[in-house]
Amino acid sequence: MSEVLWSLDDLVEAVGGRVVGDPTTTVTGISIDSRSLQPGEAFFAIKGDVRDGHRFVEAALSRGASLAVVAEGRMSELPPEGRYVVVADVLAALQDLGRAARAHTKARIVAVTGSVGKTSSKEMLRLALSASGRTHASAASYNNYWGVPLTLARMPADAEYGVFEIGMNYPGEITPLVGMVRPHFAIVTTVAPVHLAQFDAVEEIAKAKGEIFTGLEPGGTAILNASNDQFDLLRFLTIAAGVKEIVTFGASCSFDAHTTQIVARSDCSCVTGAVLGEDLTWKIGAPGRHLVENSLAVLAAVKLMGADLARGAMALSDMEAPKGRGQRHELTVHDASVTLIDESYNANPASMRAAISLLGAAPVARGGRRIAVIGDMLELGERSGELHKELVEPLEAARIDLVYCVGRTMHELWDVVPESKRGGWTETSAELQKDLVAAIRPGDAIMIKGSLGTKMGLLVSALIDAYGAKRNRAAS
Ligand SMILES: Nc1ncnc2c1ncn2[C@@H]1O[C@H](COP(=O)(O)OP(=O)(O)OP(=O)(O)O)[C@@H](O)[C@H]1O
Ligand SMILES: [Mg+2]
Repeated sequence: MSEVLWSLDDLVEAVGGRVVGDPTTTVTGISIDSRSLQPGEAFFAIKGDVRDGHRFVEAALSRGASLAVVAEGRMSELPPEGRYVVVADVLAALQDLGRAARAHTKARIVAVTGSVGKTSSKEMLRLALSASGRTHASAASYNNYWGVPLTLARMPADAEYGVFEIGMNYPGEITPLVGMVRPHFAIVTTVAPVHLAQFDAVEEIAKAKGEIFTGLEPGGTAILNASNDQFDLLRFLTIAAGVKEIVTFGASCSFDAHTTQIVARSDCSCVTGAVLGEDLTWKIGAPGRHLVENSLAVLAAVKLMGADLARGAMALSDMEAPKGRGQRHELTVHDASVTLIDESYNANPASMRAAISLLGAAPVARGGRRIAVIGDMLELGERSGELHKELVEPLEAARIDLVYCVGRTMHELWDVVPESKRGGWTETSAELQKDLVAAIRPGDAIMIKGSLGTKMGLLVSALIDAYGAKRNRAAS
């Protein structure tokens, strides 16, 4: 039987609602999606990005929801025989429940924000802290106005460590979220030009990320990337927010958590370094320098949170790249192996550079080529064209042999790619499908990446359909 997460009485007290029908006296989980709801969970009928949860209350109840939290104003549309906790506003109720969970927990809490690397760091923290005690962490990238309170509301009472991803698309978004989480430790992985359409400059992004310091618990610590261009501004913001302790991470030995040696392999990284005065060697089970950088912030947090650093560091060897974010597949082309790196989940200049460098480090067999298949990076505002064009430098540095470009803005890059390295340009990913499948040769390594809207995932599926795929464990 699933364990009890909330008693009905505590839940009702937290959300201030009125009980209708006959809900069970305990709740085993919190759900906002009737499709994945497990019997015994409470269903919160929030209005999501697209749909209103009240439309799915009936489905949730018939799947065995212990109760549904619904809005007073919508009661007339709902089955009269249902089990309800009726409130004025369902999202506010979820936030209240989140705050109640936070008020009762004894867990040490870390919050992670940054332009890229939030989920990777959050998953590393989950692994590393779990080696020391019961750890609760956000699911997927649940980092927004509903994801953060949902994660809080799902935190078991006996959690010893809590890990929260906090994201933002516009200024002012982080303040209320971190106000709910009230972390003891706040990590800013990195600040980079992402969402430039909503911000005038990278400094504005740094300021918005810096809102995370305003929610730190008194005596809390900020963990900052000292190699990042925006470090000085972030440090200033911590001081302005009254934060006394700053811990730095990055490549230089003068930082609190730093690397001294990195052996970058195609399926993992082996790292030597020091974390707050403790010398350490660790292995990260997925490749990429960006993950090494993230691991420094993670290990600093692990030590500061009082967890076992050595065990935490060992646990990072189980790290796996999530779907669409560096996952590797082994394809077979004419009986020979071809590596496909799936980065199709999303893209911005920082993550694009990280992915190009991953491809640069991927092994190719004799005669094989490193092929970058890259689509538009969206939401970059006025400097978009320039930011696309600038990718020619990392492509050159990583010695990429062949470049395929997808999307109108990627044409800016296409124009400056040396002729000998031009694979092809198309406006949509669908148009490239046939040519790309035909172009693959034994021994190649291919990396596919673009913003979600450019649908680069189509090309990943097309290659897998054509050449079959074995998931590579190291980065599955
Ligand atoms: N420190 C880093 N520096 C540069 N790129 C990174 C870094 N960490 C991760 N990335 C790149 O960004 C991609 C997304 O990583 P991740 O999912 O951890 O980011 P996120 O901040 O959670 O993104 P989202 O805002 O979509 O939730 C990865 O596939 C990788 O290519
Ligand atoms: Mg994320």
